[in-house]
Amino acid sequence: MTKTSPAMRIAVVISGSGSNLQAIIDAVAAGQLNATICCVVSNVPGVHGLTRAAAAGIATELIDHRGFDNREAFDQALCEAAHTHGADVIVLAGFMRILSDEFFKLWTGPMLNIHPSLLPSYPGMNTHERVIADGGRWHGASVHFVIPQLDAGPVIIRGACPVLPRDTAQALANRVHAVEHRIYPQALAWLAAGRLNLSENQVLLDGTRHP
Ligand code: GAR
Repeated sequence: MTKTSPAMRIAVVISGSGSNLQAIIDAVAAGQLNATICCVVSNVPGVHGLTRAAAAGIATELIDHRGFDNREAFDQALCEAAHTHGADVIVLAGFMRILSDEFFKLWTGPMLNIHPSLLPSYPGMNTHERVIADGGRWHGASVHFVIPQLDAGPVIIRGACPVLPRDTAQALANRVHAVEHRIYPQALAWLAAGRLNLSENQVLLDGTRHP
């Protein structure tokens, strides 16, 4: 009899449309990612990502940051939700808040983020506008482990796309989204299969430096 390992339990944290969440939902449904999405947490009420989660029968939690006295109290509630739902991994998918140092004391498991640029280029906000303003020829997205420094954690996978003449930020964002929907499920599939490791801040895939 073959022993199968239990599916990795993912808490997905969002602030908006949730198209990356949808890509993860679809990858699980297609059998491309051996994981269970145990909950979807949003810090913003009424966002489309919550509707997507409910449509897929996934538990949702609204933790509105405006209801908390400070960042630490919000972060504690977020961490509690992940623990309550038995998450092994926290997956930030368009979550638009900065986590406090407190969060990293409370959550010691893996946490991944997707960022709309080819990190380490263009950390922070408004990446599409900045790449166009700089006349960049290439743009894309990166999935990385989260560390307390913003957008600075070890990169697991990058996906690139061209910047086209006369691109608007929205046109470029759409192209980047298509890349994101491919690379986030891929990174999670590697993690779920136990193929990713960290050694001295360097990502190893099957024991070899990556990307
Ligand atoms: C994505 O492009 C993601 O990379 C970005 O927000 C978008 C969310 O889209 N994340 C950040 O900027 C994090 N700082 P989605 O809600 O459709 O997945």
